[in-house]
This record gives sequence, structure tokens and C-alpha cells, in this order.
Amino acid sequence: MPFQKLKPKVEDILQNKEASVDKRLTEVCELLETSIPYYDWVGFYFKNGDKEELKLRSFAGEPTDHEIIPFGRGICGQVAVSNKNFVVPDVKAQNNYIACSIHVKAEIVIPLFLNGENIGQIDIDSHSEDPFSHEDELFLEWVNKKVAEIL
Ligand code: SME
Repeated sequence: MPFQKLKPKVEDILQNKEASVDKRLTEVCELLETSIPYYDWVGFYFKNGDKEELKLRSFAGEPTDHEIIPFGRGICGQVAVSNKNFVVPDVKAQNNYIACSIHVKAEIVIPLFLNGENIGQIDIDSHSEDPFSHEDELFLEWVNKKVAEIL
């Protein structure tokens, strides 16, 4: 499904105040994972309180062992300190990478800002080779902005 068609669906989920924020985040993960063929795992990590680590808050796809990720470790941990999008066309080419599944070929991590502070991120794993474009970055930046509005 094209990103423009997904946007109103993301907004509907996030605006549903009947559901908890965690439930809404899970529903967004599920929507993206089921709607975009090359999104095989979608999750939101957030800074874990005062600790210099990320904690998985919601996801869609296979459960991961990596629910806690120290800042600086892996693609996610690097984004926690760089505050920048990280697009990985080929995970095998990365030496600071945490493997979640042998099927993963590519990954994209986009930081989530609240009042200018990097408080978390959306993380997507793909079983396809080099699947992510600038359009994915723009779309996921938009998703994160919308999520920040309900936090
Ligand atoms: N591959 C990530 C770890 C998280 S999993 O993709 C769910 C990383 O290198 O940070």
C-alpha cells in the first residue's frame, strides 16, 4: 500500500483514545508490517528511564531477544547517540550490528524526537536486499512526528 494511503490509517490508530498508547503503538507496527511487503519486523524502542539504553516498547513480527539495547551498540544504539536516520542496505556490511534473525538483510532506524530530544526510534527489519528509499525515510519521520504528538 502506498505511503499516502497509509497515513490516514496511522492517524486513525493514533487518535483512538479508547486504546492505551502501548496498544496504539502496537497497532501502528502491525499496520506497517502487514501493509508494506518489505517491512518484516517493525518496532518502537524508547530510552529506558535515566539509563543509557533503549527498551523495546511495541513491535510486530517475530519476538526478539534484544529488548534492551545499550546506547552505542548495534544500529539502534548508534541512532540513540547520533540523532540521525540510519539506513542499512546490507546488514552484513556493518560491524556494529546486532542480529535478530538470520533472515534479515536490511534495516532502517529513524529517531523519534519529542521537544527536540531524541527519546526513541522506529526500527524496521527487512528480508529483502536494499529495499529502503528516501521515501521510506520521509514516511517514517512523519510516523514518528505523529507518535510524538500522543506521548
Ligand atoms: N538489528 C538491531 C537490533 C534490533 S533488532 O533489529 C529487532 C541493531 O543492530 O541495533
